[in-house]
Amino acid sequence: MRRSDLPESFVLGTATAAYQIEGATHEDGRGESIWDAFTRVPGAIADGSTADVADDHYHRYAEDVALMGDLGFDAYRFSIAWPRIQPDGKGAPNRAGIDFYRRLAGGLRDRGITPWATLYHWDLPQALEDRGGWLERDTARRFADYAEQVSDALGDLVTDWITLNEPWCSAFLGYASGHHAPGRTVGSRAAHAAHHLLLGHGHALEALRATVPSARVGTTLNLYSVQPAGDSTADADAARRIDGLSNRLFLDPVLTGSYPADVLDDLGETEWFAEHATDDDLRLISAPIDFLGVNYYSRHTVASGFTPAKDAPASAYPGSEHVRFVKTGAPVTQMGWEIHPDGMVDVLRQANALAPSLPLYITENGAAYPDRVDADGRIDDGARTEYLEAHLEAARDAIDSGLPLGGYFIWSLIDNWEWAWGYSRRFGLVHVDYRTQRRTPKRSAAWMADFLRDAVPAS
Ligand code: NOJ
Repeated sequence: MRRSDLPESFVLGTATAAYQIEGATHEDGRGESIWDAFTRVPGAIADGSTADVADDHYHRYAEDVALMGDLGFDAYRFSIAWPRIQPDGKGAPNRAGIDFYRRLAGGLRDRGITPWATLYHWDLPQALEDRGGWLERDTARRFADYAEQVSDALGDLVTDWITLNEPWCSAFLGYASGHHAPGRTVGSRAAHAAHHLLLGHGHALEALRATVPSARVGTTLNLYSVQPAGDSTADADAARRIDGLSNRLFLDPVLTGSYPADVLDDLGETEWFAEHATDDDLRLISAPIDFLGVNYYSRHTVASGFTPAKDAPASAYPGSEHVRFVKTGAPVTQMGWEIHPDGMVDVLRQANALAPSLPLYITENGAAYPDRVDADGRIDDGARTEYLEAHLEAARDAIDSGLPLGGYFIWSLIDNWEWAWGYSRRFGLVHVDYRTQRRTPKRSAAWMADFLRDAVPAS
């Protein structure tokens, strides 16, 4: 497969998130985020680490921009840390925070790399969590205020905006299973957080449209291809439930303006939504976007039956605890996630069925592997290269089948702090030695650089 098999306008980029790479958590007036607090909870992070330093990108961003320029990427998706802009989640913007992102976006543009900014990649100011976090409707209004400040400050440098990253994770890992910050376990009430996140998206979209009329605005969902393990109606129902909670609960309101009734019923939240998710809310949430971002990593194969309690300490799927996630025996990455490139086409098709002309972008795809640095200092990550090539082929298949896929971003540019896994999972094209902060492109980076260059017409 060659780059020239893809349309010339196809955007190829990499993605990161502020909290996973920046470090400098106590510098230049940055406030505390829910992840700073969560890393201090004993046992919350697999390797007991914090992201206080991470990739030290806050100080080394110029080196990282140069790296992606050398590799030949068209675009870079990064996120803005809300606590750098509004340390307490409200009030006038912190100039030092704004300046950092202006330097970053300006540096990208100088290298001919298009900046794509995500407003919320999970680092809620702790001050807002202290007032109830995403379970409170007011957090959506706070988010609108933040979005307005950021777009005002960066709108001349950034055209491509993503409001939220993976609201399913923020709502259900943050407030149902508690595996992510803020580590709460409120069961099906986590769906209220989902609604408030989506409402925040709607408000932020409105703010961006008002402040930066030329902005292209979208939001990013993590979608899974969901298959029943067998032919039984019970397995089909398990698949309906997991597709409902992971995919439709977010796709439907954004793309069609209504919540899926069966999912609210599974959650036991029909009444709450009838009362709180007003028509006005849904009008905001479903206001036209310019593209949908899709993060795709894997598929779920599910059956009726309980997951052994030891594997499911608290459910990220409240109301559907009687669904078992089945291991099919197919190859998995180090995360234990099954490798299933065709599923990427499935999820794009599912989104496209709801909004046929809406451009779609894969805003994340990538793989963690236990990379080894060999005696010559090289990292030969053939498995990652294969994973990426297979998914680029799936992108081509999606386009060939008529889906409006406009681009593909690799997670991630550099190894980084993988949330509850700490530094123990590496997704980067570029290896980071966390003792020295030395960046070393892996073989996958060299492969990708060749792939990217192929697009340059021979003169
Ligand atoms: C999704 C998230 O957006 C990102 O932060 C995370 O590191 C990757 N997937 C890999 O798990």
